[in-house]
Amino acid sequence: MTYSLLSVPLGSFQVNEILSPEDIAESNFDQASQPLMKSIKFSLIVPTYNECKNLTKLVEILTQLLNSYFYENYELIIVDDDSPDLTWQVGLDLMPNYPQLRVMRRQGEKGLSTAVIRGWQSSQGEVLGVIDGDLQHPPETLIKMLDEMAKGADLVVASRHVEGGGVSDWGFMRRVLSRGAQMLGLLILPNVIGRVSDPMSGYFMVRRSAIANYPMNPLGYKILIEVLGRGNIGSVAEVGYVFQERQEGESKVTWRQYVDYILHLLRLRSRGRITKLREKLRVPVKRFLKFGLVGFSGVFVDMAIFYLLSDVSTLGWGLTRSKMIASEVAVLNNFLWNDLWTFRDLAQQQSGWRKLIKRFVKFNLICLLGIGLNLIILNLLYNYFGVNKYIANLIAIAIVTIWNFWFNFKLSWRVTQTK
Ligand code: GDD
Ligand code: MN
Repeated sequence: MTYSLLSVPLGSFQVNEILSPEDIAESNFDQASQPLMKSIKFSLIVPTYNECKNLTKLVEILTQLLNSYFYENYELIIVDDDSPDLTWQVGLDLMPNYPQLRVMRRQGEKGLSTAVIRGWQSSQGEVLGVIDGDLQHPPETLIKMLDEMAKGADLVVASRHVEGGGVSDWGFMRRVLSRGAQMLGLLILPNVIGRVSDPMSGYFMVRRSAIANYPMNPLGYKILIEVLGRGNIGSVAEVGYVFQERQEGESKVTWRQYVDYILHLLRLRSRGRITKLREKLRVPVKRFLKFGLVGFSGVFVDMAIFYLLSDVSTLGWGLTRSKMIASEVAVLNNFLWNDLWTFRDLAQQQSGWRKLIKRFVKFNLICLLGIGLNLIILNLLYNYFGVNKYIANLIAIAIVTIWNFWFNFKLSWRVTQTK
């Protein structure tokens, strides 16, 4: 028996609906040449490039896991971009032992996101998934994700940033870069990036009906952004997972992926988008007002402490020292009120001292960046545009308040729009 490669769909990157048996009967196709058309519940894509050392183990684990969940009513599709290490050949050699396995060898086209879409295009599943081919995404998480799908979610994201999620041992720089990319996304595409806690995740599943017939045009690595931006995604669920360290092979990420990511965000933003972004930004007015009020209270705390420390009639400390302490006490004041009032519901979902301190540290960092932004805006308005000093300062304060609110909402207290 020979095992053949799955053919690569060509043309536009659009996932279509599954053909119903009637559609097939009516079409002119020779019935026998049709791919097997029994209804398949789940199609999982594994994009690979030079993963020959990981593939065998991955396929074995995934098959075992999915067999017990679906009783073989699923398919596992490897989409390999003609890897020099012959990953696709390894996949082909595995096929005799794994009836659910299919392999695609792409030539002429390249890139992680498009590989995933090509895989989905040639799949039959009602639910479409993707998982990295290097075992950095723990396969067991799939089961929790499938359970969320069964409860009715349109999209389930495996997230490093919710309960049970994390990274194994990432250095400071890598964390900063990852969070920086997320913040950039929250600025450029708030309505899309703000919907999930981990928009960088490449481990997720989506209902075919939520993306069927919406043209896609992805770029680079972050296929989830494309799905969120162009699909018609109703309810979103998230499941925590810990991003594992790579045991074999190496990451393909270079500076190029960061550039592609920014271009991808801009493409989704610009007129060039094929479909209108479906998700309108919902402004949490009430929360923002509360946040503003808390910020206002901080002014008085700052003033009072500043007076107590620096005034000659009291302690008479130096100006800088007094101001630094006064600011930090005000930050603490604001944090506590926000935690107890503005974001109370979110804080309650993350109880314990450790998490409280984590929120406080993040709040400090974001407010610190806010001060930097304040200085930049003030300088720009005053020195370059000749705006009146006080008006410039008011504008800067208003912008920084929005900045502080948005990033603390999304990163410190971390709300996700799961319904
Ligand atoms: N077909 C194909 N074509 N696969 C690719 C390509 C490509 O051009 N580039 C990378 N891959 C495959 C890799 O073989 C691997 O299975 C997976 O995509 C992820 O690539 P890595 O290079 O290992 O990326 P990472 O470890 O930095 O993971 C980051 O990106 C992932 C994908 O978006 C993290 O952000 C993950 O959370 C995320 O899942
Ligand atoms: Mn990886």
